[in-house]
Amino acid sequence: MNPKIIVHGGAWDWDDALDPVKKDGVETAVSLGYDVLKAGGSALDAVETAVNSLEDNPVFDAGTGGYLNQAGIVQLDALIVDGATNNFGAVGGVTTVKNPISLARRVMIDSDFCFFVGKGAELQAEQFGFPVIDNQILVTPEMLEFFNAQRTDGPSDTVGAVAIDQDGNVAAATSTSGTPYKPVGRVGDSPLFGSGGYAENGIGAVGATGHGEHIMRLLLSKFTSDQLAKGLSTAEAGQAAMAFADQRFEESMCGVIMVDANGQLGAAHTTPKLAVGWIDADGVARSSMSGQDVS
Ligand code: GLY
Repeated sequence: MNPKIIVHGGAWDWDDALDPVKKDGVETAVSLGYDVLKAGGSALDAVETAVNSLEDNPVFDAGTGGYLNQAGIVQLDALIVDGATNNFGAVGGVTTVKNPISLARRVMIDSDFCFFVGKGAELQAEQFGFPVIDNQILVTPEMLEFFNAQRTDGPSDTVGAVAIDQDGNVAAATSTSGTPYKPVGRVGDSPLFGSGGYAENGIGAVGATGHGEHIMRLLLSKFTSDQLAKGLSTAEAGQAAMAFADQRFEESMCGVIMVDANGQLGAAHTTPKLAVGWIDADGVARSSMSGQDVS
């Protein structure tokens, strides 16, 4: 089948002046992921590659350029899900790893466990041979300004990718620094299986973004996948998931991206904006800041 991929650079609200850099960032990330798929690579390789690009891009609030917590540390969470096995790897509260999505993947593949947090996750990283980084290399001047002002509002919070490869395998990857000026140890939805992401061959893959305390209580990615499993289209599944979120929370402030088992892409959100990038039927990278027009 034709491989497909869609990425996001977070759901929330931000100044329109930031649109061009976000557009460039999601189009670059989705193109890198698509290159992997075109070369016959797996959905897992594609979503990891795309998310690595978003993590390394200081425009997005994951990895480099992530928000600082109340202790002035960039504290990172990530989840990767393999739809072929329905297995996942996750890490939470990591501060010494540049690309937590790659650590999550190693946890999934090379450990007997699914989820490591804090010092334990960092120890795993060392054992896997990841370089131990100084947390300060993740800090950008903009995010330091946010921290110094103790701002708890921010333009977005999370990055993610979902893909289906030529063999029909699906995968989801999500990575975040969480919310701005979060309390030390606070972890949101992103690394939680079924909340921040979900993937199952024959159904599809979903990634969530937005208000973590809402998303985790909705199991939003699994809920969206369940709508696909019922036979809804990606557009219908997105609408149903957002209606569910709005029914439970007055300002649900969340969003999802997805790909179904037929390669149909989709995105939906209850936030003012959702930065998405995808590859259209002609193989061209497209993007939208309103989560619209995904095809
Ligand atoms: N959605 C990411 C978080 O709330 O941490």
